[in-house]
Amino acid sequence: MQALTQQIPEGSRKEVMAYLEPFMLNEMSEYLKPVEEMWQPADFLPDASRDTFFNEIRDLQESAQELSYDLVAVLIGDTITEEALPTYESWLTMVENVNKNEQGGWMKWVRAWTAEENRHGDLLNKYLYLSGRVNMREMEISTQYLLQDGIDIGTGNDPYRNFIYTSFQELATNVSHRRVAGLAKKDGDRLLAKMCGVIASDEARHAKAYMSFISKAMEVDSSEVMVAFEDMMRKKIVMPAHLLRESGEPQGEAFAHFSDAAQRLGVYTAVDYVDILKELLREWKVESVKELNEAGERARDYLVRLPDRLLRLADRMKMPEKTFRFKWIHD
Ligand SMILES: [Fe+2]
Ligand SMILES: [Fe+2]
Repeated sequence: MQALTQQIPEGSRKEVMAYLEPFMLNEMSEYLKPVEEMWQPADFLPDASRDTFFNEIRDLQESAQELSYDLVAVLIGDTITEEALPTYESWLTMVENVNKNEQGGWMKWVRAWTAEENRHGDLLNKYLYLSGRVNMREMEISTQYLLQDGIDIGTGNDPYRNFIYTSFQELATNVSHRRVAGLAKKDGDRLLAKMCGVIASDEARHAKAYMSFISKAMEVDSSEVMVAFEDMMRKKIVMPAHLLRESGEPQGEAFAHFSDAAQRLGVYTAVDYVDILKELLREWKVESVKELNEAGERARDYLVRLPDRLLRLADRMKMPEKTFRFKWIHD
């Protein structure tokens, strides 16, 4: 398709996606790395075929002993979130108005992105298993529940809402993995710090890709993108593990305790939420977008005022104090 220089008439997601698809295909190598150049979980974990294996495990367990209770809880929550990848992949393939041809830009992107993401849960799960601090059966029950429960994140099958959500989420996971890396280092677990660091940098690349999809869509369908952005922010961006639970407990309860722990540690806070929103507003130059229809203008006005409003709310939020005892963690 020819490059579009003018706005596409309203309601033509299909044309916009057809316009985006060659871009996805061509630019993919900018945001994803060739398989054999990538790090793999085995690069970080003790090698069971080596004589030193048991010594390496002992070292790993000694460092893991130093991690604070909240940090282990957050790490488990992060790991389960990563391991619910089949939910995210199937959700991405359900997006409407895109060409579902396996050789097309969208499906190729989804599969390559999934392939990169799959390493995250794999690495963290193996680390947690070896650490000796985790009740693996309880953690595995939570993972199975989360996969079964799925997600309810308010995007529907709309590509714009989907890319806005994924842009936000990839930035959020970048922040949280990066912070966990910092805390692990402080607690003396250098291996875990390195692992979370490399995962965080994957997330940052992914964020750039999804943000670029929206930047492109903004060029040709700004009002509709703006309205979709407003809608997602009004609904609030919920985390993909928002239905997380422990065995015998109601849906979503473990998630609340997990996010309290993240807030307490400063791994992911209400202020981070606002910072991510600000980054998206900057990236998509929301304030200076022109040629909007009435709904688009209203959406833009709402969005540019939102960070200040949210910061006032964040100020008034109370820090969750009590540490919750998870079934996931051995006492
Ligand atoms: Fe990830
Ligand atoms: Fe990610």
